[in-house]
Amino acid sequence: MGLPSINPSGTQAWQNLREHFFDMQYVSMQEMFAQDEQRAEKFHIEWDKFLVDYSKNRINEKTLRLLLDLAAEVNLKEAIQAQFSGEKINQTEDRSVLHVALRALENDVFLVDGKNVMPEIYAVKNKIKNFAGDIVEGKRKGFTGKNFTDVVNIGIGGSDLGPAMVLESLRFYKNHLNVHFVSNVDGDHVYESIKNLNPETTLFVVVSKTFTTQETLSNAETIRNWFLRSAKQEDIAKHFAAVSTNIQKVTEFGIDAENVFPMWDWVGGRFSLWGAVGLSIALGVGYDNYEKLLEGARKMDVHFKESPFNENIPVVLALLTVWYNNFFGAETEAVIPYTQYLQKLAPYLQQGIMESNGKSIGRDGFPVNYQTGTIVWGEPGTNSQHAFFQLIHQGTKLIPADFIGFKKSLYGNKEHHDKLMSNFFAQTEALLNGKTAEQVKDEFVKAGIEEEKLKFLLPFKVFEGNKPTNTLLIESLTPETLGSLVALYEHKIFAQGILWNIFSYDQWGVELGKQLADTILNEIGKNKLTKHDASTNLLLHKYLK
Ligand code: F6P
Repeated sequence: MGLPSINPSGTQAWQNLREHFFDMQYVSMQEMFAQDEQRAEKFHIEWDKFLVDYSKNRINEKTLRLLLDLAAEVNLKEAIQAQFSGEKINQTEDRSVLHVALRALENDVFLVDGKNVMPEIYAVKNKIKNFAGDIVEGKRKGFTGKNFTDVVNIGIGGSDLGPAMVLESLRFYKNHLNVHFVSNVDGDHVYESIKNLNPETTLFVVVSKTFTTQETLSNAETIRNWFLRSAKQEDIAKHFAAVSTNIQKVTEFGIDAENVFPMWDWVGGRFSLWGAVGLSIALGVGYDNYEKLLEGARKMDVHFKESPFNENIPVVLALLTVWYNNFFGAETEAVIPYTQYLQKLAPYLQQGIMESNGKSIGRDGFPVNYQTGTIVWGEPGTNSQHAFFQLIHQGTKLIPADFIGFKKSLYGNKEHHDKLMSNFFAQTEALLNGKTAEQVKDEFVKAGIEEEKLKFLLPFKVFEGNKPTNTLLIESLTPETLGSLVALYEHKIFAQGILWNIFSYDQWGVELGKQLADTILNEIGKNKLTKHDASTNLLLHKYLK
């Protein structure tokens, strides 16, 4: 049981891809477009409200065939099956991985240790529905009888980034509740966040899967003390809720058991927004929108599980990442949404992608002999065009990028949207075609620029082009399409983990720093340093002086 260990670099497909890479590394996409009128037709997928055009990549039909061979050789199909059937594929933590169950239909069956978890999931969903509904409609009130106006989500990592990203993305759909996020253990973050809040009208949701995370517990304690300056101990029951697997610790903290929303260890923190971690989402945009978000994700789950790989968006995008990461040596990928609403998508994906696939030990327990997890980054267009696009266009690095755009804007101002989208289309076109010396020369001549200046400027104005992009053109930004989009990236992460033969669902790499921070905090408290390396010693002495 669990996932098999198949070193991708030992597969026939990998060998073939290596050889094929030598044919492809200098191939010009412009030429491939010129030679094949059907290219865009061949390399795009239409699904539901999505059109994914991946024709602007350095691939041909053979590349795709070999990448699909790789997926077959590493048993990706079986791995997907294993995940959906509740097998303990998170082997280093001995857990199933079933975030997909959180958005499944009530009569679906998802088994953990032979037990169907759907009834538990729906019990929690109902609890979220009732609680959020009561707060939004003013049926539950604060300790002085006033309606709630604000919600503070206290959590970090997966207990913060998901709801924060979704609520930012769905601002258009928000209700009267203002949701704030406190995550950093930086006291200035907490005090800045609560300084204008009224304890009488603020609800606090403490979100921590383990309920042992230093940042979250410190922030929750600080906020509880701040709250108790105006309220009594028994008022905590009205103003504090918790989302956790650790019910005992939550009750020790003083939160009423009635206000506890359970999570399960078979959902990883960074994949948890679909369950009780999404309570702040249900509060901020209402339960119906939260449900639509889940429905969008569920549709993508079905697509991922059932579509043949050549029509499977997460699989095709995962394979393209492998192509650039492992054969072209590209180290990073950019995600550029053309909507300001998705400004938190890249930070959200950074945890999802890098905490999952930033691994160097294969599933056989030995160091891998190939590259794994990519670095992901990005900012919305058009802002990013005026920031880092220079480097993508004319720098020395190959940076594959996903462009995400919407056919319709939400406020419906066509003039703005046409400008936004013309930039969206123009950028991928520019990255593909670049600008040749001849084109630059023509422009100079037309502008009447003298020969000497022309000669000097010419090389700086040439764009090499041939830069790969995927274009995701989506109908409009709704809770449903957002759910599908996020689930798309989740499945891409999983598929990549299988292709790289790593365990995507643990995160041991975050532990060491936490342990050392505890030691140092203890030493700072006692004002007594033990032995550190010379650099750390120097810094700590300076801090303590
Ligand atoms: O950063 C490590 C991590 O364990 C994440 O995976 C998780 O999302 C975050 O810390 C918060 O953990 P918790 O929800 O247990 O407070």
